[in-house]
Amino acid sequence: MITEGPKIFTDQGGLSLAMEVRELDRWRQKKRRILVVVVVLLTVAGTGAEAWKKEEFKRCDQTIFCRESRNREFGSSKWYINEVNVTNGKVRARLVNGEDVEAEHSGSLILHLSAYQDGIIRVKVKEADPKKKRFEVPDVLVKELEEKRLWIQRVIEKDGASMVVLSGHEVVLLHKPFQLYVRSGKETLISLNAKGLFHFERQREKREDENWDDTFRSHTDSRPHGPQSIGFDVSFYGADYVYGIPERATSLALKPTKGADIVSEPYRLYNSDIFEYLHESPFGLYGAVPVMQAHSEKKTTGFFWLNAAEMLVDVLAKEKAEEGTEDVSRVDTHWIAESGAFDTFFFIGPGPKDVIRQYTSLTGKSIMPQYFATAYHQCRWNYKDEADVFQVDGGFDEHDMPYDVLWLDIEHTDGKKYFTWDPVLFPNPKEMQEKIAAKGRKMVTIIDPHIKRDNNYHIHKEAQAMGYYVKNKHGGDFDGWCWPGSSSYLDMLDPEVRSWWADKFSYSSYQGSTPILYTWNDMNEPSVFNGPEATMQRDNIHSAGVEHRDVHNAYGYYFHMASMEGLLKRGEYNDRPFVLSRSFFAGTQKVGAIWTGDNTADWNHLRVSVPMLVTLGLTGITFAGADVGGFFGNPDPELLTRWYQLGAYYPFYRGHAHLDTKRREPWLFGEPYTSLIREALHTRYALLPYLYTLFREANVNGLPLMRPLWMEYPMDKHTFAIDDEFLLGTDLLVHGVYSEKATSEDVYFPGSQRWFDVRTGASYSGGQTVKVLVTMESIPAYQRAGSIIPRKDRFRRSSFHMENDPYTLVIALNDTYEAQGELYVDDGKSYDFEKGAYIHRLFTFSNGRLTSSNIASDSKGTKEFTTPCVVERIILLGLKSKDLSAHRVLIESSGTQVPAEIGPSLLRKGYHQTNSLVVRMPKVRISDDWSIKVL
Ligand code: NOJ
Repeated sequence: MITEGPKIFTDQGGLSLAMEVRELDRWRQKKRRILVVVVVLLTVAGTGAEAWKKEEFKRCDQTIFCRESRNREFGSSKWYINEVNVTNGKVRARLVNGEDVEAEHSGSLILHLSAYQDGIIRVKVKEADPKKKRFEVPDVLVKELEEKRLWIQRVIEKDGASMVVLSGHEVVLLHKPFQLYVRSGKETLISLNAKGLFHFERQREKREDENWDDTFRSHTDSRPHGPQSIGFDVSFYGADYVYGIPERATSLALKPTKGADIVSEPYRLYNSDIFEYLHESPFGLYGAVPVMQAHSEKKTTGFFWLNAAEMLVDVLAKEKAEEGTEDVSRVDTHWIAESGAFDTFFFIGPGPKDVIRQYTSLTGKSIMPQYFATAYHQCRWNYKDEADVFQVDGGFDEHDMPYDVLWLDIEHTDGKKYFTWDPVLFPNPKEMQEKIAAKGRKMVTIIDPHIKRDNNYHIHKEAQAMGYYVKNKHGGDFDGWCWPGSSSYLDMLDPEVRSWWADKFSYSSYQGSTPILYTWNDMNEPSVFNGPEATMQRDNIHSAGVEHRDVHNAYGYYFHMASMEGLLKRGEYNDRPFVLSRSFFAGTQKVGAIWTGDNTADWNHLRVSVPMLVTLGLTGITFAGADVGGFFGNPDPELLTRWYQLGAYYPFYRGHAHLDTKRREPWLFGEPYTSLIREALHTRYALLPYLYTLFREANVNGLPLMRPLWMEYPMDKHTFAIDDEFLLGTDLLVHGVYSEKATSEDVYFPGSQRWFDVRTGASYSGGQTVKVLVTMESIPAYQRAGSIIPRKDRFRRSSFHMENDPYTLVIALNDTYEAQGELYVDDGKSYDFEKGAYIHRLFTFSNGRLTSSNIASDSKGTKEFTTPCVVERIILLGLKSKDLSAHRVLIESSGTQVPAEIGPSLLRKGYHQTNSLVVRMPKVRISDDWSIKVL
């Protein structure tokens, strides 16, 4: 029970203790009803047969810490603060447990509260006298974070609470019971422990009668350090929905998992190689980012827990306020981790983009990919041999389809020993790559973290001799089963091992590799076929005695990081690496790309790829895609075509397929599909300048390419749960087609401006849902009125060959005949852009005139970038008939005139839009300032 505490700073809803008590009572009454429903539903659920082998993965009630934490009652936390001071610019508070203060295992906790620029509050809680230092996940937070720390001078003490006043917001620490509130003015934004679920299992000696073993199926976890879980509640005030905590295949707005009549597992964050995952499930997949955003039309806030142990999150069903009580629009969440540190961050927003900026200012902005990496990738498990590679490569040319990268899966190696080539199938890897390179294309090989225990394998011999493997609980090298059979796993937590691994990417070490060869990291959860839950034992040991249970969710991240370092080193640090990873953690955005793993060739998986990728973007990881076509199974040509059409707008665009599937190179299905897929690929290639400009924005501001509608229209309630369409940047609205033989789709057009169909130029007013007709030719995609999108419309073999091609600027005018857009260009390859070698232009259309001006922020650049590219076409959409007459426009900067005509061949093949104008060959250079008087 929450005791009636001091009503300090209780001038508004979130802090009213009386209200908390009322809620508790209501919840208890409800609980009795829920129990009955649970029993009934569990009986029903038990009869269902599913593809995914659920029983191989733990449910919450099969884990001691989860079961106990989840069953904890609201208000059960007995922790209170008995001392507060300010030291070294941080608030330091001592927490005492009122329940066992006299008991043998008592020990206080120390809370550290610090604040950072731009609305970030950090709360750490540690055991005052820990038996063993808890693991704090290194290399996630950016190095310069300390420079952004604000110096807290003092706390205001009043009636049993302490308050820290920051600029524009404040933090209130209630002493008894311990509760924390982040507020802005009089409004509560986020709280910690307002529901009284804070629980901290302090490490202790084992009692004689105790057994700490935890057995699941045939595996026993010895839990040598005993129970050490942490749990607490976080409430988001004034919130309608919460989002985030990838990775799972489910809706964008997270559905409640507990409360009311809901029977569900909590959302699980435990990186797992899930075979044939379901398209609608709270179970965690390959990666984890413990960050959540809460949003309503009034505000957006966020929360991040830096902890890599198994984590479970419940989203509690909202309870309706009883008549006469204040209506608290709020989402309550309950967070539980098996072990690790209590290191949490609160983001005050106030808008969706602010929260992403705040989160990525802690964990890093997205890498800037090479240009080729943003184009189309062709993959399959497996391209069999060199002849197969050439045949596929040639197939693209023969069918006039662009592609940039050809991928080789595990079968290209000599017996699944990474960094080697099968001597029979790939006898001349260098020559093979050189031939591909001659066409301006690249290749990727797979490199997994399990190392074959083969004494003739140099990587294994060295790793073993150097003691670089993760150890089992007995201190020997851990030996698990993966593709090569008996394998050991490198201890990627150790920087020395990472540096050694990075050296393996040098051209001298990786025999047969060339500068156009990039990397794919798979199975890095890590996947261990014969391990508990298909991963390694939690009591395995990493460097400095850290248990695997503490590192688990970040293992794949460190592996990804080491591989990325390898490509950096090999290119003498001036060639941007490209490494795709299946597993990820907070901070992955500064390492490389990820994909959503082994999806299935069905319509539901096509549909769920959108919320999965949008969610990743909300957690900073924007360079992401789903296997186009679906990994398992054989898509029929319609599904495959729809996937190519949607994938054209994924930030990472790769076709991939399982070993057992039929070949599905994009020309194999005959007409009309070959042409339709070619058109989808062309859509992608035309948009590369726009995409690359967005990648730069992600690199600078952390903003994702693929955005939920509410990120751009935060006040529009209607958008909050939409996840079958998304925005690409601010200017493109995309809606997939997710069913067979569809003839129409319901598209919601947000905002007050019109949206122009990117193919036909037809326009729709904002603020309405329209049933738009669809054909197999394309999926619905629209350009926002008021925007200018740069494109390259000449189609070639690969993006490399488009480098010096001229641009098309598509201007979609708004109601006041204005529009704006940006273009970012650099060499697409090196890090010279960090030294100022790039161009960044702002295109503005107003008063009938289009101008181009420089918005490159880097004045202190030491390097320059030049490009001969010109604008070959300007398309204006949204004109009125009175403006339309074929005429000449004046290039003011040069004094020349060029023709403009009413829009035949306006957008893509055969579309004739009458309210548009095309200016031909203005030939202004994209790197120059210029203005063109059009109207
Ligand atoms: C699992 C990956 O998810 C898949 O993409 C890959 O083809 C296979 N491993 C084989 O390497």
